[in-house]
Amino acid sequence: MKFITVENYETLSRKAAAIIAAEVIAKPDCVLGLATGSSPVGTYKNLSEWCKNGDLDFSCVSSINLDEYTGLDGSNDQSYRYFMNNNLFDHININKDKTFVPNGKATDIKAECEAYDNRIKEMGIDIQLLGIGVDGHIGFNEPDEFFTKETHQVTLDPSTIEANARFFESIDDVPKTAVTMGMGGIMSAKKVLLIANGQNKKDILEKAFYGPIDPKVPASILQLHPDVTVIFSEN
Ligand code: GLP
Repeated sequence: MKFITVENYETLSRKAAAIIAAEVIAKPDCVLGLATGSSPVGTYKNLSEWCKNGDLDFSCVSSINLDEYTGLDGSNDQSYRYFMNNNLFDHININKDKTFVPNGKATDIKAECEAYDNRIKEMGIDIQLLGIGVDGHIGFNEPDEFFTKETHQVTLDPSTIEANARFFESIDDVPKTAVTMGMGGIMSAKKVLLIANGQNKKDILEKAFYGPIDPKVPASILQLHPDVTVIFSEN
């Protein structure tokens, strides 16, 4: 595992974007595993700029996102599909038909999860971008008694609902459940890039990467992955 500490969010975002850009340049038809939350916003901004400048070409790239709130469809501005369009896909020359986000509005969530896992298996993820929740969640894999391998529906932890309330008008508007890629999907990525910024992430990073591997700290499973880069900025 490479743990890179940088001085600020701008540097974190530039470095993370550079790692993803290197992947796109080396393998123009690569599959990017993408994440939402506030951490990747700067990374996506850089990628968008570099694409606009003509330095990056996403025309053959496809993507698979980690998660989606249950009950929100892509036109809802709080959905992760909307976030991805707004922060990245609308600004780069990716074919949107090749960008996948779980369908949080699927009538049969179980079938949606199974289909998502088949897609992950078929496409294969070259590099998975991750953030980390204050409780150690990755995607929406919340602390539990065990790690869940498959894409599945989860009940969000109260700390996650509280942390994500800043994106909604009120805490009551935050969906209570979500669909997330499981640990099997995340661990199947050839490379993992985790970005975290802010002092409130310091303790959980310490636990996740230097403590025991424990489903109560979901990100700790990444200790078993052969190619993980963590970029952290306290500011
Ligand atoms: C959400 C997402 C996660 C993300 C986490 C951290 O819960 N489902 O994928 O890593 O938030 O978000 P932030 O980067 O805003 O701290």
